[in-house]
Amino acid sequence: MAPPPTLPENSFAASVHVATHLAPGWAQKALREEVRQAFTSMPKELSPRWLYDQRGSELFDQITQLEEYYPTEAERALLTAHASDIARTTGVGMIVELGSGSGDKTRTLLDAFQSQGTLRSFVPFDVSETMLRMAAGLLHERYPEAEIAPVVGDFNLHLDRLPSPQNRLLVFLGGTIGNFYPAERTIFLKSLANTLRCGEWFLLGADLVKDSKRILRAYNDDSGVTAQFILNSLHVLNRELDADLPVEDFSYVVVWDEDEERIDMRVRADRKIDATIGALNLPVSFAPGEELRVEISAKFHPEALVAELRAAGMVVHKQWIAAGNEFGLFLARREVEI
Ligand SMILES: C[S@@+](CC[C@H](N)C(=O)[O-])C[C@H]1O[C@@H](n2cnc3c(N)ncnc32)[C@H](O)[C@@H]1O
Repeated sequence: MAPPPTLPENSFAASVHVATHLAPGWAQKALREEVRQAFTSMPKELSPRWLYDQRGSELFDQITQLEEYYPTEAERALLTAHASDIARTTGVGMIVELGSGSGDKTRTLLDAFQSQGTLRSFVPFDVSETMLRMAAGLLHERYPEAEIAPVVGDFNLHLDRLPSPQNRLLVFLGGTIGNFYPAERTIFLKSLANTLRCGEWFLLGADLVKDSKRILRAYNDDSGVTAQFILNSLHVLNRELDADLPVEDFSYVVVWDEDEERIDMRVRADRKIDATIGALNLPVSFAPGEELRVEISAKFHPEALVAELRAAGMVVHKQWIAAGNEFGLFLARREVEI
């Protein structure tokens, strides 16, 4: 993706040192490869990491503030209630957060480690450098004694390059684990367990299976922010790959897939569309009603997730489930060699 056009507004952000594991032009190259494949196969599909350009990251932040979007507040309430327990149980000095985004909820966790006197360093890790700079600036002001060491990277590719000078707690919040397909999730959890030394910790926030109407409403808000967030993926293609997809002729479609127990978010062509992906010299067409899947969000049963973590080599020591299966927090430890 192109570098962010503007720097965020806090004073420290511009001077934050951000370590990057992405070679220059990496994202562009990956996007080209993915789009060439996605648009020449059926059904068409993109991976969700392209949703988080600067505009997409801002829209996601707005989503987390929507009344309909229950996961953020449910997870925040669990963190508020149990952060001290997590700090006591793990006792670590280094926290690494994958897909950290704004890091808004994470502050609850960091506060608990700070009160306990163990917070030494925090490593927010995200594909979006803009978000990292913004978050790191604010965190540096809030925790001046701690080292804030942001890393830009892709958690599918760069887990092995995370710093590991001491015992760590790896954190993966926001239900982002639901964006993986089951087979991808198995690979991700295994490689995550592989990067942990025995005795290191993993805190996972996952959305749970519940009344499908409540879930659907969270992804189909009245103000249409989620629709803008998903349709923004087409703007990303137009901007980054010199495409001419007429975004106004696509609609947002969301379905609850009962069999797979996941939300499925797509854009649908309202009419026949013929366009070109300029950077690939690739003509693309959509039949009327044809869809492009942009993101899934799987929901979980706690016992199945605990079993998946164990199969990957991580044993759940504590779990906290919000009333009505609103959300779950799972604190696991790497205990066996795999
Ligand atoms: C659903 S948001 C969650 C943000 C935050 N953790 C929260 O709980 O609100 C997903 C975050 O993961 C990041 N992300 C998505 N795909 C990624 C990837 N492949 N590697 C690293 N970060 C990624 C996005 O930029 C975004 O900040």
